[in-house]
Amino acid sequence: MLSDRINRVKPSATLEITAKAKALRAQGREIINFGAGEPDFDTPEHIKEALRKALDEGFIYYTPAAGIPELREAVAEKLERENKISYDPEGEVVITPGAKMALYAAIMALVNPGDEVVIPSPWWVSYVPMVQLADGKPVFVPTYEEDEFRLLSDAVAEKVTRKTKLLILNSPNNPTGAVLSREDLKGIAEVCEDHDIFIISDEIYEYIIYDDAEHVSIASLGNMKERVVTVNGLSKAYSMTGWRVGYAAGPREVIKAMTRLQAHSVSNVTSFVQKAAVAALRGPSDEVERMVKAFDERRRYIVSELRSIPGVSCVMPRGAFYAFANFSAYEKDSFKLANYLLEEAGVAVVPGAAFGEEGEGYIRLSYATSMENIKAGMERIREAMERYPRA
Ligand SMILES: Cc1ncc(COP(=O)(O)O)c(C=O)c1O
Repeated sequence: MLSDRINRVKPSATLEITAKAKALRAQGREIINFGAGEPDFDTPEHIKEALRKALDEGFIYYTPAAGIPELREAVAEKLERENKISYDPEGEVVITPGAKMALYAAIMALVNPGDEVVIPSPWWVSYVPMVQLADGKPVFVPTYEEDEFRLLSDAVAEKVTRKTKLLILNSPNNPTGAVLSREDLKGIAEVCEDHDIFIISDEIYEYIIYDDAEHVSIASLGNMKERVVTVNGLSKAYSMTGWRVGYAAGPREVIKAMTRLQAHSVSNVTSFVQKAAVAALRGPSDEVERMVKAFDERRRYIVSELRSIPGVSCVMPRGAFYAFANFSAYEKDSFKLANYLLEEAGVAVVPGAAFGEEGEGYIRLSYATSMENIKAGMERIREAMERYPRA
């Protein structure tokens, strides 16, 4: 009955663990959750206020499919000010229901059946299903702990064939926390120019960076703007995951195609949410800074705790809010390990293999949870690992 297209897409690999965690909670077990992919803060008040005002003023009708002009302008201003890329809000910017829809629309607009799409691995869980839905072929470029999981341009070049159409970049990275430097990006840009490869740059974690890490948008380098769709959104920056608002900016032809897809599928982002998004982009950034400061403190703590477990290694993440820790000295099967930690320690983590083959032997711990939970959770993991036979 179902289409081949949808049959190619597997249910989320983490579903099983999530369902088990839920079942244990229902039995009264107290589970500490390191699985969350969203900030544990409230949306700043001025953004909520803008939403209420828009509702009270009756801003409840369809909007243009690309988004209200005011929000497209705010996005273009932000990209010019912070990312040093200049886009025309009239035709080069589209507002989407989350960065996720921007990624999906960009892939649907660019990928023909059989086109190869280069994806750095470990990869965020939705890239591959999206490429499969577009009948494209995912081609993986491994990244390694020894390189702090940075994507190396030589590794990209190795995977290029005549069929390579697209590269999906994600810096800061989920799940590894890697942040690509300007030099890294220049090397990658060169490979893409040489081989006429288009790039989708997923920059959803751009504000969540630490130490001396710098966020660089690949579209701002040289002539790259003509071959890059820059994707971003408000979910992580302003703790607005449930609001569903993101955006993409790029070459007119691609943005127009993405807008067409949106017009015939979801129409537009909720009207009053768009008004609130203007307030987010044009408003103060002190709450973002506060949130990043809290993440930073938790990051240092969780990584030092992980590293103090004999045999475990963990790269210090330079961005996002995940620690990607290597437990292969104990267990190569990350699903088995995640199940063990859930059942024996009452701690929910995401198995590394959920992010592709290169993630095997690792687990992802989100530190978007309170310091109190992190302390208790790490104590439980340490105790559980003391009882686990080393491989
Ligand atoms: C790397 C990455 N890209 C995109 C998204 C989707 O974000 P949004 O809520 O804006 O759709 C996520 C959310 O977890 C993410 O981790």
